[in-house]
Formats: sequence, structure tokens, C-alpha cells
Amino acid sequence: MEARRHISLKESIRSIPDYPKPGIVFRDITTLLSDPRSFRRAVDALVHPYAGGGIKQVAGIEARGFILGGAIAHQLSCGFVPIRKRGKLPHKTVSMAYALEYGTDEIEIHVDAVGPGDRVLLVDDLIATGGTATAAINLLRKIGAEVVAACFVIDLPEIGGAQRLRDMGVDVRTLMEFE
Ligand code: PRP
Ligand code: ADE
Repeated sequence: MEARRHISLKESIRSIPDYPKPGIVFRDITTLLSDPRSFRRAVDALVHPYAGGGIKQVAGIEARGFILGGAIAHQLSCGFVPIRKRGKLPHKTVSMAYALEYGTDEIEIHVDAVGPGDRVLLVDDLIATGGTATAAINLLRKIGAEVVAACFVIDLPEIGGAQRLRDMGVDVRTLMEFE
């Protein structure tokens, strides 16, 4: 019987040219998520630096940050806080508009989502311009959180988002890079 080859974490990402706009290569993590070994490896690798680090809440950015953030929060025995696109959260919110690699958007968080000084880990699947994550960090700080770190599966370093977050004093970790 032929031995089954395990794919690398990077090989588990599917790249889709010209989505959602011409010139953008979309890095699709659904193929990582549906491969049990890759999903576990990614979550374990993202969790590892923060185990025992006193994180109180994991904040996940809609939509793919919810999937990863929920699994990470469970493994760290933390709470989970959703940061959602405009108009989706039912209670009183604070919101912030931001520019994307391909357009603009607005995200929100519940005003009472964290306690004063709560140590928060921000999670998303990918960082490109850092516009989304910067807005999320500003929202979290506005409601009293201490944003200790941010982690992502994918970094697009040429676009500069991870550096932008580091310049805001946030520790950034990513699992792989694409051009
Ligand atoms: C993607 C990704 C990040 C964001 C990164 O989400 O999941 O949240 O873009 O880009 P940035 O660093 O340039 O801000 P998208 O805006 O496509 O939203 P979705 O998760 O709702 O599809
Ligand atoms: N968000 C911003 N740029 C992206 C890309 N190239 N692939 C997936 N999500 C993105």
C-alpha cells in the first residue's frame, strides 16, 4: 500500500487568483480547516506561545477569526469576544471604519465585551494591510482591554500590516508568509 503523504501547513492553503477582484490572489483557509491534521496543527501552533500567559479573552474578527479564535480560546481556557461587521451585534456597540486591500468596511464590538485591563489576544486568519486588525485593536483599547498580542495563520509581509501592528506595541505572530 502506498504511504499517504502529509501536506505541509502552507500546502493546505488554496490560492485563488483574481478573487474578489482582478489582481488579488485570495488565500483560502477553508482547505486548511477541512483537513483535520492541518486544522489541529495550525491551532496548536497559534496557541503555543500564549499557554500560561495570562490571556483572559480571545477576540476573533468576523468571519474566519471566529473559527480559529473559538478553537484557540477553548484550548487556552479563555473567553471569546466577537468583533463583527457593522449591524450584527445586538447590544450597545462601539464601531470603527477602516480601509481594506480591496475596499472599506466597518467593525463593531460590544461596549461591555471585556473587563477593565483584561489581557486580550486578537485572532484572525490573515493580515494584509493591517487595516482590519488596527481597527480591532483600537476598538479593544477603547473599551478598556490590554491587547497583549495578535496572531494570524497568514502574513502578507510585503503589504506591511504586521509591522503596522508591531509599531502599535502589539506582539505579532504568524505561521506562514505569502508574497
Ligand atoms: C480578510 C481577512 C482579514 C482581512 C485582512 O477578511 O479575514 O479579516 O481581510 O485584511 P487587512 O489586513 O488588509 O485588513 P475580509 O475583509 O475579506 O472579510 P470576511 O472575513 O468577512 O470575508
Ligand atoms: N484579505 C486581504 N487580502 C487577502 C488575501 N489576499 N487573501 C485572503 N484574504 C485577504
